[in-house]
Amino acid sequence: MKRDMVELLSGRELDKMRQAGRLAAELLLHLEPMIEPGVSTLEINDEAERWTKARGAKSAPLGYKGFPKSICTSINEVVCHGIPNAKQILKEGDIINIDVTPLVDGYHGDTSKTFLVGTPSPKAKKLVEVTLECLMRGIAEVKPGARIGDIGAAIQEYAESEGFSVVRNFAGHGVHRVFHTAPEVLHYGKRGTGMRLKPWMVFTIEPMINEGTWEVEILKDGWTAVTKDRKLSAQFEHTVAVTEAGVEILTQP
Ligand code: MF3
Ligand code: CO
Ligand code: CO
Repeated sequence: MKRDMVELLSGRELDKMRQAGRLAAELLLHLEPMIEPGVSTLEINDEAERWTKARGAKSAPLGYKGFPKSICTSINEVVCHGIPNAKQILKEGDIINIDVTPLVDGYHGDTSKTFLVGTPSPKAKKLVEVTLECLMRGIAEVKPGARIGDIGAAIQEYAESEGFSVVRNFAGHGVHRVFHTAPEVLHYGKRGTGMRLKPWMVFTIEPMINEGTWEVEILKDGWTAVTKDRKLSAQFEHTVAVTEAGVEILTQP
């Protein structure tokens, strides 16, 4: 299989993706009550790892390209790939993205959500709401015959109309037996450009939306991506399948 070839899944494979996606969504729901001031990101990580193992699944991020933990925890100015740490304690007014990817019977369910810790500023809440709406507008573009650029265009139009910016350095991705594969799903771009979508394609949409500049820096740990201006960033992610009827969100409970 060439690396730029987009696989079309079989019915049996799509069922496996539904199972993985459901477990991923349930894991986020399970972690949600822990998201309170005073908890460390390592405690959230360890509960995610325990819960995932107890269901016979694996945490795909653990050891992936050397990533040291089971989930990504990205607070405030962290755009993505934050590493859980015992010394990192959630505080009142933070926003935190939790990104989980259980590997279930060989298939990956990839989803993330930005949670509010207590009551963040109105600006932070607005960023989180706009980012969720960006994801849902991107998903609404998915149907057979649509172009992959339609997804990014819808996201960029809405984010920028609300005065926010779209991160360019990370993209959605094909996902199935392989964690990250073709197609690349940009969260910005032009309508009517790029590959045509076909039934049985499965990929993530995972816009990262910033309060200030879209530019990011990687910290010295080699993973943590932060906004260059250290202003806030939010993200939501679903794994979706293209169907004859349009789109199916796989990462739902
Ligand atoms: N789940 C992330 C994504 O949405 C990837 C995390 S890779 C890791 O693509 F190595 F940082 F865990
Ligand atoms: Co993810
Ligand atoms: Co992803």
